[in-house]
Amino acid sequence: MPERTLPLLPPRLRDMRVLLVDDQELNLRLMYQVLEKAGLHDIIFTQDPYAVAPLVALRTPDLLVVDLHMPGLDGFGVMEAVRPQVEAAGYLPILVLTADVTEESRRRALDAGARDFLTKPIDNIEVVQRTKNLLETRRLYLDLEYQNATLEQRVIERTADVEEAQLETLERLARTAEYRDDQTGRHVLRVGRVTALIARQMTMEESDVRLLRLAAPLHDLGKIGIPDAILLAPRRLTPEEFEEMKTHTEIGARILAGSRSSLLQLAENIARTHHERWDGRGYFGLVAHDIPIGARIVSVADVFDALTHERPYKSAWPIDLAVDEIARNRGTQFDPDVVDAFSRLDPEELLNPPEPVPSAVGWGDRSGYDRLAPRSRPQAESLAGA
Ligand SMILES: [Fe+2]
Repeated sequence: MPERTLPLLPPRLRDMRVLLVDDQELNLRLMYQVLEKAGLHDIIFTQDPYAVAPLVALRTPDLLVVDLHMPGLDGFGVMEAVRPQVEAAGYLPILVLTADVTEESRRRALDAGARDFLTKPIDNIEVVQRTKNLLETRRLYLDLEYQNATLEQRVIERTADVEEAQLETLERLARTAEYRDDQTGRHVLRVGRVTALIARQMTMEESDVRLLRLAAPLHDLGKIGIPDAILLAPRRLTPEEFEEMKTHTEIGARILAGSRSSLLQLAENIARTHHERWDGRGYFGLVAHDIPIGARIVSVADVFDALTHERPYKSAWPIDLAVDEIARNRGTQFDPDVVDAFSRLDPEELLNPPEPVPSAVGWGDRSGYDRLAPRSRPQAESLAGA
């Protein structure tokens, strides 16, 4: 009978790790030698079936070769013990060694997670062939995992690029609206930041804080449609002029309307309602909790910033007077809870607010907007800590 030569495993499989489990040292030795000759060089083994689960957890193998008949914990018990790790590892094949070839034991082993069998006494070439088949599949599985992870990473990077561009566009849009009376665009930036600081002080969820930070600067976008003679008038407006000035809320809301983005929907909402008053004496007469929470916060941030900075018709107020003015309007112009949160902030920080939200926001995610959307019933107003 011609001598059969042992096949070599292809190079791409030789780095893969195999864990051998057999209570018989001689069997382990034989398997080890065969697999080593076939090209594998990362073979670990144990005679203790109870050591298998910790070993698999510690050094995730690419193939588990288990003897079915062992004292104490048998092969079925071992497969049961490693089931959680096998499932967590994705496709981790188990090759069962058995002298018992009954249908019943094969079925049980398959149920327990076996992918293939080797019948004792083992045939060396068959050992290599079956090992190769299972390692090939494991290799394909790992390659696919890697590709998916790479692809996912690329999508994350691309999405971040797009988000950054969108956020920058929004930031510039907000500045455009402000350009005629504040060429630096600092007002809208500060309003966005102070809004976020107040929202965080009110223990709103961080995703809501981020949305508000980004949507608030667009509150006066509609000023783009207000004539210079009114917008830049260095005096009190006439009633007619004031009526026209009021339309900036609706103009802004219309510019922002119809978007699928949760951020733009929130911005639309704020643009429309940021001149509402808690007591109902604002532009549209919305009262208390009927005014969206985002707009209630923006209105405090906006008035505070307008007071503390110079305008064509007024000089800048000292900060303590501005803080008092906000407090004086608690419960009339402003939501008492928003004023309370505002009052707890450091006044100096309010004057030069730091950027509270360094990272971008998830676009197209409606969850944040849904929580910030107008509410018809006061009891739904539990955004803080909700
Ligand atoms: Fe406004």
